[in-house]
Amino acid sequence: MSTSADRLKAAALLVRVEDGAFASRLLGDVSAAGVRARVLGTLRLLRPLDGAIEAASRRKTVSLDPEVRAVLRLGLYEIKGLGIPAAVAGDGAVRLIRRMGRPKASGLVNAVMRRAPGHWDRLIREGDDAFRSSHPDWLWRRWTRAFGREAAESAMSEAQHPAPLWVWFTDVGLCDRLTGEGIELHEHPWMPGAWRAVGSDLVGSLRAGDAYAQDPASQLVAWLTTALNPGGGEVIDLCAAPGGKTARIVKDGAWSVVVAADLSLGRLRLAGRVFERCIPKVFRVIQDATLPAVSEARWHAVVLDAPCTGTGTLRRHPELRYRLRPEDVGDRTGLQAKLLEGALDLVAPGGFLLYSTCSVEPEENEGHFERIPQGFKVVDLAPTLPEGTPAITTSAGGIRLLPQESCDGFTVHALRRDGKGMVNDT
Ligand SMILES: C[S@@+](CC[C@H](N)C(=O)[O-])C[C@H]1O[C@@H](n2cnc3c(N)ncnc32)[C@H](O)[C@@H]1O
Repeated sequence: MSTSADRLKAAALLVRVEDGAFASRLLGDVSAAGVRARVLGTLRLLRPLDGAIEAASRRKTVSLDPEVRAVLRLGLYEIKGLGIPAAVAGDGAVRLIRRMGRPKASGLVNAVMRRAPGHWDRLIREGDDAFRSSHPDWLWRRWTRAFGREAAESAMSEAQHPAPLWVWFTDVGLCDRLTGEGIELHEHPWMPGAWRAVGSDLVGSLRAGDAYAQDPASQLVAWLTTALNPGGGEVIDLCAAPGGKTARIVKDGAWSVVVAADLSLGRLRLAGRVFERCIPKVFRVIQDATLPAVSEARWHAVVLDAPCTGTGTLRRHPELRYRLRPEDVGDRTGLQAKLLEGALDLVAPGGFLLYSTCSVEPEENEGHFERIPQGFKVVDLAPTLPEGTPAITTSAGGIRLLPQESCDGFTVHALRRDGKGMVNDT
């Protein structure tokens, strides 16, 4: 794709993201690196970009037409994020707004593109940490309170970089084959079985289903499920779709029965492809996990990877930080509490519940374990972690990975039901 085609596509996608679409979903079918870099980079820097546009235009960006807003943000990002000369980016922005059918706005675009870069350095110098790292003030205050200033600063600055591609292979022999083909592979610093390729996007392996792209923190959740149940047994994943963790659970463990349940038929359908290679076979079930289970079955391992605010994944979903509202954290906890209640019911004597979220917010995680239900004990996860895992311990004995270069943010807690053996066995 040419630069002008990249720009046109990127601007159109930015308008759709503002309408509520998820950038990662829209970019799923887009292979052009120039479009991906422009869309995700612009979203990652939105606060300072808007600051400079507002200073240059003397109006709020919300008062601009969506196309004009997208073109200005993109144009300024090209200068400040991609290092494209101001004259080239400015000219590109003017042509772009014309191609988007808004020729009358070309004067405004031209004027703002000339003035906005001049405001940048001052705004960055005078702005606070939240502004500089383009995060909302409320999240900055929340993370500083919960994790300390240094950790908040580091987590937010990590969210400004693209997430590296980490994969696991359905068959370990594939590493040798790819190395034989001249692809340089590196294993993850702490997550066993996670690999990164240098100079290759592993597209062939991913398309063939030989490799599965998954953040190391997600891989860790699956790995812990197996580590707590080395003898395998029966496992149910209650919020399984689109199936990434279930598939890795199957790969690592010696399970006799694997069930992937989810409320969403569409997302479970996506999981079908992911499970094609799994042995044993994964049974897919549509089920609302807040409702009482239809069967009496109890499980060695119950996994609840609950719907959450996703604050650990802001580098993958940069628009999320501007969409989330402080009250969303509390709103999610109601559903999570209901899901947990149902999940605990399904655990067999001696079995485990593994509760995880890709949120780092205490209320969505340790907040649910301030009182431990009768008949359960907290499992201290720290001794089970792979060596070198940079996790912190939560106040309820779980572990938290703050967003960092090596992984997304994630929080995991586990409870073990008292007793020995399986209800189903007796
Ligand atoms: C964090 S995602 C799960 C990701 C999945 N574990 C993976 O690794 O690919 C949360 C899932 O919970 C599902 N969900 C939401 N409410 C549910 C409910 N009441 N019962 C069952 N699943 C639910 C959503 O459809 C979504 O697929």
